[in-house]
Amino acid sequence: MELTLKSARRYVDEIPAPLAVVGVWGGEFSEEGHKLDARHRKALSKMMEELHFKGDFGETLLIPLGSRKGEGPGFALLFGLGKKRGVSLETVRKAGARLVQEIARLGFKEAVSETFLSDKFGKKEASYALAEGALLGGYAWNKYKTTGPASKRGEKLRLWLARASGPAVEQAAIVAEAVNYARDLVNEPPNVLTPAELAQRASAMAQELGLEVEIWDENQIKQAGMGAFYGVAQGSANPPRFIQLTYKPQNPASRVIAMVGKGLTFDTGGYSLKPSEAQITMKCDMAGAAAVLGAMRAIARLKPEVEVRAYVAAAENMISGTAYRVSDVLTSLSGKTIEVLNTDAEGRLTLADAITYADRQGAEAIVELSTLTGACVVALGEKIAGLFANDARWGREVQEAAERAGEKVWPLPMEEEYLEALKSSTADLKNTHGRSRSGGAITAALFLAEFTEKPLVHLDIAGPAFTEKAHALGPAGGTGFGVRTLVELLSDILAD
Ligand code: BES
Ligand code: ZN
Ligand code: ZN
Repeated sequence: MELTLKSARRYVDEIPAPLAVVGVWGGEFSEEGHKLDARHRKALSKMMEELHFKGDFGETLLIPLGSRKGEGPGFALLFGLGKKRGVSLETVRKAGARLVQEIARLGFKEAVSETFLSDKFGKKEASYALAEGALLGGYAWNKYKTTGPASKRGEKLRLWLARASGPAVEQAAIVAEAVNYARDLVNEPPNVLTPAELAQRASAMAQELGLEVEIWDENQIKQAGMGAFYGVAQGSANPPRFIQLTYKPQNPASRVIAMVGKGLTFDTGGYSLKPSEAQITMKCDMAGAAAVLGAMRAIARLKPEVEVRAYVAAAENMISGTAYRVSDVLTSLSGKTIEVLNTDAEGRLTLADAITYADRQGAEAIVELSTLTGACVVALGEKIAGLFANDARWGREVQEAAERAGEKVWPLPMEEEYLEALKSSTADLKNTHGRSRSGGAITAALFLAEFTEKPLVHLDIAGPAFTEKAHALGPAGGTGFGVRTLVELLSDILAD
């Protein structure tokens, strides 16, 4: 749906829209609800009582108000927010998503909603969460639908947010747009979104938003010495690309931060082939890259004081006569040699070179996102990303940004003893610890940490990057996970 948000200083009943949304907390009206109810001679409370409307979260009740044209809203929509005690910004964010879906389902093209203010948080936070939720909840992926209800691409909705903070709504719109951009990249099928196409889109975005951009083709990648990255890419007819974007602030930067995203546009597993079922979601293997590019989009608009560099080693992990095999030895950009024991542990090979490069270009700290291991999904489930840090302070900084942004991450240990398992008798390292599957998310993180001495945070987003079912903030498919955390980390918009 094409959703336009407008913030207004006025109360709900002062804004001329055909539908007015007011909240019900723990069975009681919000202040805005009371106002509207009084104005309509208790029509709302009577209806609420008669129909036993309790206001559980997400429960809604549409009430005709019988106003004449131009005299205020023709309908009220009571929106249940659940109990007041358990409310958090996440409640408001989810309410925003649920709300726009319900308004669209009812067929309204314009509506006004209250901002669900409460004494638990400020107007700025509530406005931000509601706007963000609405814009994420309004996302649909129907580019390739030619028939059916899902093909209703042009659906438009204008939503007024009464008594909202204008700047907060604008910031939320920038961030949500970036999340939805990342979702689009993940959802794009892998025959369309090849490494070259991903690079093309990154450069188009850079041009549009005034970012510096440099793209390397397969020859430049090889010549630069990125042998680990190139090894993964060499089996595909779709050649790899190394994507670099830079955002420079107007004044001298306070810090230089690098973001690295895993960019496997498709992961078959290579000769260590994935079973067909496991391949079904593998177009999501560039979700780290999507998050980094999405974040760059928001950064270019929010213009923080830090310099931000984004790096993506984009490739496709395929099988062919030129593909890399088990037992191959690759020489990484760092000079370290790696014996390949499993061609499906390809992400860490591409990331090793991207991390080395980011470090050498002068990043002070690196944050890297990747759909890296199934083991991380086993450990934390599909909703939570694993956070690994070689530096406690940088780790905390990223974790706190994720908390403020409302994305779920949880720290996992970088147990040094497990590094033994990655020593190879042939080369400096091997890319997996052989037949053992234990601690797979940790060994993957330890492998990456071998390629920089700088503060490094690795977020394993294999769980939350992609979902096969619709969720509270969007439909099935790419979730855009990580964009909100990265933007918050670099621009502190939600910090006090
Ligand atoms: N892209 C996968 C990880 C993945 C799994 C992402 C599930 C999203 C959902 C990665 O390249 C991979 O295959 N990892 C292997 C590593 C193993 C061979 C050490 C895995 O997790 O099985
Ligand atoms: Zn793999
Ligand atoms: Zn992969």
